[in-house]
Amino acid sequence: MSAQLILPPILDACCGPRMMWFDSADRRALFIDKRQEIVDRDWTKDGKSAGRKPAVVAPDIVADFTALPFTDESFYLVVFDPPHIGLSRTGRNGKFRKLYGALPIDWQAVLRAGFAECFRVLKPHGTLIFKWAEHSIKLSAVLDLTPHLPLFGHRTVRSTHWVCFMKLGEEAAP
Ligand SMILES: C[S@@+](CC[C@H](N)C(=O)[O-])C[C@H]1O[C@@H](n2cnc3c(N)ncnc32)[C@H](O)[C@@H]1O
Repeated sequence: MSAQLILPPILDACCGPRMMWFDSADRRALFIDKRQEIVDRDWTKDGKSAGRKPAVVAPDIVADFTALPFTDESFYLVVFDPPHIGLSRTGRNGKFRKLYGALPIDWQAVLRAGFAECFRVLKPHGTLIFKWAEHSIKLSAVLDLTPHLPLFGHRTVRSTHWVCFMKLGEEAAP
């Protein structure tokens, strides 16, 4: 007899240190990330300690959002907050790269596959919340990587965007 994993209703597809969660141990969600790491963030300009605790990246499952280890239509809500900084901007050891990861050279292919996987594991009419910070790459360039049409999000100029999607039927490619 094979054991069946009972999944919570929500997937955080790349949880990092879970800073955006009100409760970073919220059991309504399954947290995944491709790394497991403790990241020092006690950064100061003068080299003195500010006493900041390290950030802990400890996913429930270490997995890649381009190949999610779940069957189709597993979750009601998926939140997708991928890295948004290019390697060239931060350098390999940049502090933000350490905390939030960085986009690879082939970022379009990676994010396209990430969107496709998030929608694959969503139940019909499930919701995808996408977060994007417009540091290096425009939101519009990223939204072009999925045929699903966004519903609403920030319409004014700002750097951090939250965009809401729902998994509906066939949709026209943008
Ligand atoms: C912007 S951070 C997420 C921050 C998080 N939402 C928070 O509240 O702290 C992006 C995360 O995506 C992870 N990541 C990057 N590529 C990934 C991939 N292919 N699969 C899974 N996680 C990935 C990074 O390790 C990083 O922790």
